[in-house]
Amino acid sequence: MIHIWHCFLFALLAIRAGTSAQQMPCDLRETSHGSVCVCNSTYCDYLEQPEITDSNQIVVISSSKDGLRFQKTTGDFASQKPLVVEDKQSTDENFKAEAIVVDQSRAWLQLANIPQRLFINASVRTIRVVVNREKRFQKVSNFGGAFTGTVSYLLKQLRQELQDHVYKSYFHQDGIAYNTVRMSIGGSDFDLEPWAYNEWPRNDLQLSNFTQLDSRDLQKIEQLKRLKVVAELDELKIMGAAWSAPPWMKTNDRWTGFGQLKTEYYQTWALYHLKFLELMQAKNMPIWAISTGNEPLNGVIGFFFVHFMSMGWTPWQQAIWLSDNLGPTIRRSSTQSKVLIFGNDDQRYTYPSWFRKMRSSRNNSLSYLDGLAVHWYWDELVGPQLIDQAHLEMPEKLLLNTESCIGDKPWQTHGPELGSWQRGESYMRAYTQDMRHHFNGWLDWNLVLDERGGPNYVNNFVDAPVIVNATSRREIYKQPIFYAIGHFSKFLPAESVRIEARIENESNPFTQLSVVGFQRPDGSVAVIVYNGQNLPVDVALNDSQRGVIGLRLPPRSWHTVLYK
Ligand SMILES: *[C@@H]1O[C@H](CO)[C@@H](O)[C@H](O)[C@H]1NC(C)=O
Ligand SMILES: *[C@@H]1O[C@H](CO)[C@@H](O)[C@H](O)[C@H]1NC(C)=O
Ligand SMILES: *[C@@H]1O[C@H](CO)[C@@H](O)[C@H](O)[C@H]1NC(C)=O
Ligand SMILES: *[C@@H]1O[C@H](CO)[C@@H](O)[C@H](O)[C@H]1NC(C)=O
Ligand SMILES: *[C@@H]1O[C@H](CO)[C@@H](O)[C@H](O)[C@H]1NC(C)=O
Ligand SMILES: *[C@@H]1O[C@H](CO)[C@@H](O)[C@H](O)[C@H]1NC(C)=O
Ligand SMILES: *[C@@H]1O[C@H](CO)[C@@H](O)[C@H](O)[C@H]1NC(C)=O
Repeated sequence: MIHIWHCFLFALLAIRAGTSAQQMPCDLRETSHGSVCVCNSTYCDYLEQPEITDSNQIVVISSSKDGLRFQKTTGDFASQKPLVVEDKQSTDENFKAEAIVVDQSRAWLQLANIPQRLFINASVRTIRVVVNREKRFQKVSNFGGAFTGTVSYLLKQLRQELQDHVYKSYFHQDGIAYNTVRMSIGGSDFDLEPWAYNEWPRNDLQLSNFTQLDSRDLQKIEQLKRLKVVAELDELKIMGAAWSAPPWMKTNDRWTGFGQLKTEYYQTWALYHLKFLELMQAKNMPIWAISTGNEPLNGVIGFFFVHFMSMGWTPWQQAIWLSDNLGPTIRRSSTQSKVLIFGNDDQRYTYPSWFRKMRSSRNNSLSYLDGLAVHWYWDELVGPQLIDQAHLEMPEKLLLNTESCIGDKPWQTHGPELGSWQRGESYMRAYTQDMRHHFNGWLDWNLVLDERGGPNYVNNFVDAPVIVNATSRREIYKQPIFYAIGHFSKFLPAESVRIEARIENESNPFTQLSVVGFQRPDGSVAVIVYNGQNLPVDVALNDSQRGVIGLRLPPRSWHTVLYK
């Protein structure tokens, strides 16, 4: 037992970096797959934006499988010693989770409820990270999530105080500082039934019955107004996307299946978008951007698997509609001409060929696009090179990931895995990869779902960063996914610029370590470091202007390192 005590002693003697007292810490609860942070109407965890008060200060914000959530540790450039991020188990001996206990050269594995420690003869690796502020890439613009019909419905069930904690947790500076929501124009798969404007009368070219928004929109608008107040947001960017036209405009006269827009309604469908924009503006909730339609391939090739509202487009057809109808209708509008238009809004594997096909059909069609929208779902099977190619061909266009969630695949749990660190790690790897491949931001899918991962009218159950207890309606659970996203969104305000940050001699594709770096508008640097190993890692971060920062990071953890 001697060596174990020795190692605890080491942990205690390690430089005790100061931890913040002002923060409202996570109320950590063990769950089926790990642990979540619990909020109720009177308590929720928040972290004030860390201020770097003097130029020698280093602030590290950390989350770990073992239970850290936005833990703040501070250090100093002047110190010769490495900054040690202490994991939960080293400070809380009652926390029963598997953990690895380490001294300088050896590691022990501690399994939950087993008193013996297994000896691993592993040494802690040192990873050298190069941060070069002189090499600059894209700007950050948006982080956010989707305000679907399901989200609106679930929030409505909660007491106002608990709703407010959802808004504050996501959009306030003390939360994870989102600035954008995505919402459907009409219904989406996360609604309680499929719906569109002007379902009646049919064959109505001028949309005579689309004179006001739906009651579901009005509820969302009330909630978004509250959100802006609670989150102290001056500007909330809203991105709209339509899932399907009313059935009468479609070749199959249905919400789903193999069906496209009838050509005689091309202009009607453009007008439909314009009317939505005008009605939202009239409610003082202007739309920042729209896309050319959610997942256009669902109604062309995806209909075997997709049983929710969708409308098919081939790239050739969509280029004609964009170029002849939607583009001119928006750009010539007296009030909506500045609304941005994003193309594709579908999976990565359609890049870049979708746009090449559009161009071959209407050579000016791409000029109507301000941005490119990508969904995450098949990224683990399709590499980012396709995005690189699209960016190379259209470097001036914004690039956003506009949808992501876990639990849609046949081999995944269809619904939340409460507390799953692994799912958080999937997000961490994905956000890191996209930000290293030209993306300006990321909009996640449902802000909240219930314990089953719904509800919605097609029983399509998936996970979300925040799960509502829809049974008691008294608690919400912040998943590891929430913190994975937050390590980006909270610390990267719009106008932050990605800078070079890489692991020196990164050659091993199986390395479970990644970094991505940014310079923020105030000049400070934010480097996001992910350790996916079951062992701690030492990081020697060498900044081109400041020199070396030494860090000891716990197993299965991620960190945002901030300094000037
Ligand atoms: C809310 O959570 C806090 C922190 O766990 C707890 O002290 C408080 O009793 C809870 N309030 C209610 C109404 O359950
Ligand atoms: C453990 O590592 C040391 C070197 O650090 C080596 O000498 C020793 O043989 C190793 N023991 C085992 C059991 O692998
Ligand atoms: C207009 O739409 C409403 C539903 O939004 C419907 O009740 C009404 O019958 C429609 N009017 C006509 C003339 O079809
Ligand atoms: C674009 O297409 C039109 C006809 O569709 C043609 O007149 C024009 O020359 C083309 N422009 C370019 C740059 O290829
Ligand atoms: C939701 O709350 C009820 C009542 O307090 C509780 O029994 C249930 O375990 C909670 N659900 C989850 C997922 O924690
Ligand atoms: C990295 O690679 C360079 C050249 O391949 C080599 O000179 C250097 O020693 C390597 N550094 C480390 C830390 O392995
Ligand atoms: C840090 O990087 C600089 C180049 O930016 C290099 O000159 C210096 O030797 C590096 N320091 C260490 C300790 O690796």
